[in-house]
Amino acid sequence: MALKTINPTTTKSWKKLEEHFNNVKDVHMKQWFAQDAERANKMTIKWEDFYVDYSKNRITEETLNLLLELANEVDLKDAISKYFEGDIINETEGRAVLHTALRAPKTAEVLVDGENVIPEIYSVKEKIKDFTNKIVNAELKGYTGKAFTDVVNIGIGGSDLGPAMVVDSLSYYKNHLKTHFVSNVDGDHVNEVIKNLNPETTLFVIVSKTFTTQETLSNATTIRKWFLEKAPDNAVAKHFVAVSTNIEKVKAFGIDENNIFPMWNWVGGRFSLWSAVGLSISLSVGFENFDKLLQGAHKMDEHFKTEDFDKNIPVIAGLLSVWYNNFFNVETEAIIPYTQYLNQFATYLQQGIMESNGKSIDRSGEPINYQTGTIIWGEPGTNSQHAFFQLIHQGTKIIPAEFIGFAKSLHGNQDHQDKLISNFIAQTEALLNGKSKEQVIAEGAPEKLVPFKIFEGNKPTTTILINQLTPESLGKLISLYEHKIFVQGVIWNIFSYDQFGVELGKQLANAILKDIDEKEIVNKHDASTLNLLKFYKNLT
Ligand code: F6P
Repeated sequence: MALKTINPTTTKSWKKLEEHFNNVKDVHMKQWFAQDAERANKMTIKWEDFYVDYSKNRITEETLNLLLELANEVDLKDAISKYFEGDIINETEGRAVLHTALRAPKTAEVLVDGENVIPEIYSVKEKIKDFTNKIVNAELKGYTGKAFTDVVNIGIGGSDLGPAMVVDSLSYYKNHLKTHFVSNVDGDHVNEVIKNLNPETTLFVIVSKTFTTQETLSNATTIRKWFLEKAPDNAVAKHFVAVSTNIEKVKAFGIDENNIFPMWNWVGGRFSLWSAVGLSISLSVGFENFDKLLQGAHKMDEHFKTEDFDKNIPVIAGLLSVWYNNFFNVETEAIIPYTQYLNQFATYLQQGIMESNGKSIDRSGEPINYQTGTIIWGEPGTNSQHAFFQLIHQGTKIIPAEFIGFAKSLHGNQDHQDKLISNFIAQTEALLNGKSKEQVIAEGAPEKLVPFKIFEGNKPTTTILINQLTPESLGKLISLYEHKIFVQGVIWNIFSYDQFGVELGKQLANAILKDIDEKEIVNKHDASTLNLLKFYKNLT
């Protein structure tokens, strides 16, 4: 069954939230902390190895209750069961949304068109495991009999960002294989990657759900050509594997049928790292760690599916986002991981969140008259403290920030870890409390500098403190954000699982490419585009 179509702004709770917003919008959070000694405890969720403190947000208990009322009014519960049960909730593409099935236990039953997909998922998992072990243990070798040393993932968007982010995040757990990612159609990108590679010892994993993506096919073709300059034709079967739903196109590209890892159209590209799209993850950290990542995600799935909304981490995270986006009219959210390992996390989430919820037509096909998808950005702390934190602290904008930290370091350098975590905690403290005029004067600031040294504070943050960065905890964290996206989409009454907005640019690029390739410009363009095209053609 389809998701319900309820315009959130027509609900009673929305109206109440609007009134309530006017009462609380100017209150400083410090006041609420002073009034209620239990605030931090009440607004913290402890779950497994996660400690989620959302008390430093511009909310009261009433805000929370109204947001929870909103979740009930749009029937989030019903939506969650449709999501997990494989209903066609991706209506515009006529598909179920079942990345959660990819990490479900073997005993689960998830029906798509009346058929349980779990056995098929496990048979592909078995193939990933077998292949990973044979490559890692050098049972499978390159065309000259040498063990593989390098793996190149060729893909873009969801076929790149998820695997690239996880491989980077789990680099502590990596084996001897060096993993590279080629995504951009920029030829310099692919040439930079292959220039130092030895074709005899490199495995290429072409990942494309559709196997029609210009960037991926161009890169794969360039790499195969480069490979065949050194290797014989029959070596392709040993060095190229593919992950796709489009088996025919993969075969037409020349990939051996045994080297194809299938995936399914009920897995969206940006949610696909749990499928064979994660093959480079498995190759990089071993199948067991890949499986632990999946197990962690499954734990978060269960939490999301079964926990009451007031203690449900993705639900609270999604509701807070709606609160800022639709009532404070805040446009962006920052993701600040306090670990260099999560360097690519915000970039990865940009696709997950912005490709999903960047929509302006509601589920009834009507234009929307309220804000939807938030702009996501961020960089690890402490680096970001020395880059853009000035604006968060003293700028004119409210930027809700999610601080993600890990209590234990992986290499055990306690001195650094204590410094890192003290910064992690200090920043949210500073953003909450700021620094008053009195404090600035008491510190002896020259009178004329006093206004510049005042920090207003009252800047919202949520702290997610996790015991340690492991494959399992990373799986939980990614799954948390996947469900946050879902909660937002349900409330905003949009379809989160299509991405028609990326098509127009692709179409026009094809037309422009034709105009570049041909002698004459035949397609119609606006004056600015035409000038650019002529200028480029004259240069080349
Ligand atoms: O950017 C659009 C998009 O369709 C993404 O949703 C997807 O992850 C990416 O392109 C790559 O697509 P494919 O895996 O089919 O090559």
